[in-house]
Amino acid sequence: MTTRKVLLAGAASLLLGMPMVSTAAFAQDVDSGRTVFEGTCVACHGDNGRGAFEGVPNLASRLSKSDDELFTNISEGFESPGSIMAMPANGGNPDLTEQQVRDVIAYIRQAFGE
Ligand code: HEC
Repeated sequence: MTTRKVLLAGAASLLLGMPMVSTAAFAQDVDSGRTVFEGTCVACHGDNGRGAFEGVPNLASRLSKSDDELFTNISEGFESPGSIMAMPANGGNPDLTEQQVRDVIAYIRQAFGE
């Protein structure tokens, strides 16, 4: 649902000749991202981002991916080949907005990046 809205917003902005929705167009709020992480992501990813249980990877190991790729994988859900557990779309929280997903990416990079 949210993904469809994001795609529609992208298509609409293309039609209107406005810049495509991209990270550069958004200010990312790390504090908001922390709130999102602690509310929706921490149960699986853990306080330190290393995974609260088996099957959840250390987030630090995924941060070489671009913000846009992480955005897509968080919004739509993601499963690596051979993985024993998938990342649910929006971490299973259908109320997350696109802005909140952008914010949580900024938080993850700041908190768990090298
Ligand atoms: C139900 C457990 C669960 C929740 C809740 C969850 N994740 Fe995940 N997440 C996973 C698992 C499992 C993976 C690894 C999936 C794989 O690679 O197969 C993952 C992978 C990821 C990745 C790496 C994606 C990639 O491209 O490699 C990111 C980033 C991520 N999660 C962010 C989040 C954020 C942000 C939230 C909260 C909005 C969240 N996760 C909530 C289980 C969860």
